[in-house]
Amino acid sequence: MKRYDSGRKSSHEERRNPKMLNKVIIPVAGLGTRVLPASKAIPKEMLPVVDKPVIQYVVEEAVAAGFTQIILVTRSGKASIEDHFDRNAELDEVLATKGKDELLHAVRNTLPAGAQLISVRQDQALGLGHAVLCAAELIRDEEDFAVMLPDMLIDSDSQFSDLKQMVAHYHEHQCGQIMVESVPEDQVERYGIVDCGGMPPAVGTSSKLHNLVEKPGRSEAPSNLAIVGRYILPGKIMQLLRTTQAGAGGEIQLTDAIKSLVASGDLLHAFTMSGELYDCGNKSGLLQANLALGLKHSETSADMKQFIETILNNGTLLSK
Ligand code: G1P
Repeated sequence: MKRYDSGRKSSHEERRNPKMLNKVIIPVAGLGTRVLPASKAIPKEMLPVVDKPVIQYVVEEAVAAGFTQIILVTRSGKASIEDHFDRNAELDEVLATKGKDELLHAVRNTLPAGAQLISVRQDQALGLGHAVLCAAELIRDEEDFAVMLPDMLIDSDSQFSDLKQMVAHYHEHQCGQIMVESVPEDQVERYGIVDCGGMPPAVGTSSKLHNLVEKPGRSEAPSNLAIVGRYILPGKIMQLLRTTQAGAGGEIQLTDAIKSLVASGDLLHAFTMSGELYDCGNKSGLLQANLALGLKHSETSADMKQFIETILNNGTLLSK
């Protein structure tokens, strides 16, 4: 197990309340086959969206929502993710000598203030449920924690992000939360789909989860509300994961363990997000995220707008 510390204390770092929600597990051991060959020698989580790797957006989202212990579940060939969040003394010195203060600040703060990064290994690709279970030693039975999937980039108001709102619902309702978004009916097979008893929560709200199914066929899907990769779960899910058999795709699914939890009477909510979701684990999603965030970034916005205008006026690129 490896640990990196940003070295700067957050205001609530020292509190030790067993019910405090401060740990997030981010599984980064996936092979990234949907973005090959780009991900052959570079982890898919390190592919850039404008000027930061996708994983940095996810870590920043976590820390902004109050999570301070970032647990990466990693594998061989993924060391650059840990390096990205570590100090690079040589680079710091070069940037400091050249007076490049803004860049120095950016490279020094890849891991936001107050956060600590811990990594554990998943030595076999047995599925998302198995990846989460690999971090079991770091989660107490009575301790609630979050899971964030690093492919899914959510662009929402950073002051009041979907994750922050979901954490607020967790505190208000005192129960686990699963973030969802409605997807077109012909896409339900790609996701975990939830059943809220015919009462889907309105955007920005949460409601009781009755059941969930991993990658159902179109005719079996209980709704079109898809799990988007942000979860707040009770620590006892680890016990259930230990006995969860391989499910959809022959993999140990987190969805199946949550399903058992709900079936045994535990209250969980589905929370409907409102931001823009980009699946950066596939080519189109990664390109869309670059386009959308590139249009907002102060250094690239003007050029991007001009380029898009040129494409639209010219028409030839779009008609191909
Ligand atoms: C995983 C989850 C699924 C969720 C999806 C979101 O599937 O198992 O429930 O809807 O992430 O991206 P994967 O995409 O890893 O197959």
